[in-house]
Amino acid sequence: PSVGLIGAPFCKGQPRGGVEGGPDLIRGARLVERLQAGGCAVKDYGNLQFEEFADDEPVGVVKNAKAVGSANQRLSEAVHAIKKDGHTSVMLGGDHSLAIGSIHGHAAAVGELSVVWVDAHADINTPMTTETGNLHGQPMSFLLRELRSKTPTLPNFSWIKPCVSAKNLVYIGLRDVDPAEHFILKLLGVKAFSMTEVDQLGISRVMEQTCDYLCDKVQKPIHLSYDVDAVDPSVTPATGTPVIGGLTYREGLYVTEYLCQTGRLSAVDMVEVNPLRGQTEQEVQSTVGTAVDLLLGCFGRQREGNHAPDYQLP
Ligand code: ARG
Ligand code: MN
Ligand code: MN
Ligand code: MN
Repeated sequence: PSVGLIGAPFCKGQPRGGVEGGPDLIRGARLVERLQAGGCAVKDYGNLQFEEFADDEPVGVVKNAKAVGSANQRLSEAVHAIKKDGHTSVMLGGDHSLAIGSIHGHAAAVGELSVVWVDAHADINTPMTTETGNLHGQPMSFLLRELRSKTPTLPNFSWIKPCVSAKNLVYIGLRDVDPAEHFILKLLGVKAFSMTEVDQLGISRVMEQTCDYLCDKVQKPIHLSYDVDAVDPSVTPATGTPVIGGLTYREGLYVTEYLCQTGRLSAVDMVEVNPLRGQTEQEVQSTVGTAVDLLLGCFGRQREGNHAPDYQLP
């Protein structure tokens, strides 16, 4: 399994500075070396550079539309190229508005895909329902075919073609969902395992049911979009919108191990790591270390241990 790594140091989908430091911080925690030590070939495509817009006026309440639209167009092309090169794409954010480009580029390369969205938040507000105006709370609304008529075209968003069907989306970890988002989830019948279902079923049955739901009929590639705030803030405090009552470290890791063994993980996002939101160096290290462990889980690291297929006892 080869990994194509792309850094997206972008923060304009939300108001807090610092999240653009995510990619280099995660690399600094030796992600590449540790993937390689686990037997993974890695090609690092480096960090994207994004255009700045002096005239990025709010559209209604929606902030930084031009910057977000343009950054995601670049990211979409980059992920498309990584997939065409034959890699599993790993996008390091940056804020979660980047899922627009990552998922769009993935779908452009492989066609129909399944999306597993692991997050405290549903990030499915439309520009008409958002209460904050932050585009990191809205990415899924631009990607779902069923919401096409509900999302006005923002400046620099006209390249986006909705490419995900509601039936191919599963949420895990929800616990802070706006009323309009809850309405949309029910209207579209989106499969969602909130923290209540995690409590009820346990994470193993949540993953079993996630894959039964997505995995039958056609074997579509899986896009895992992992917001580090899905995990409890006692473990991943350095993030912009922490919410109490999240996945434990072990539950968060189990999600990645389970998806890995499906053999269908085709792209992964790791977003919302924000070093400036940690109160102490220890809080930042715990958040970054967890992000790296989650990515290692996606690419075959097992808690039981691993060894190379050609291992020889000395
Ligand atoms: N629902 C809120 C909003 O629309 C919070 C979104 C948080 N999103 C995130 N990617 N952390 O702004
Ligand atoms: Mn193509
Ligand atoms: Mn979130
Ligand atoms: Mn999110």
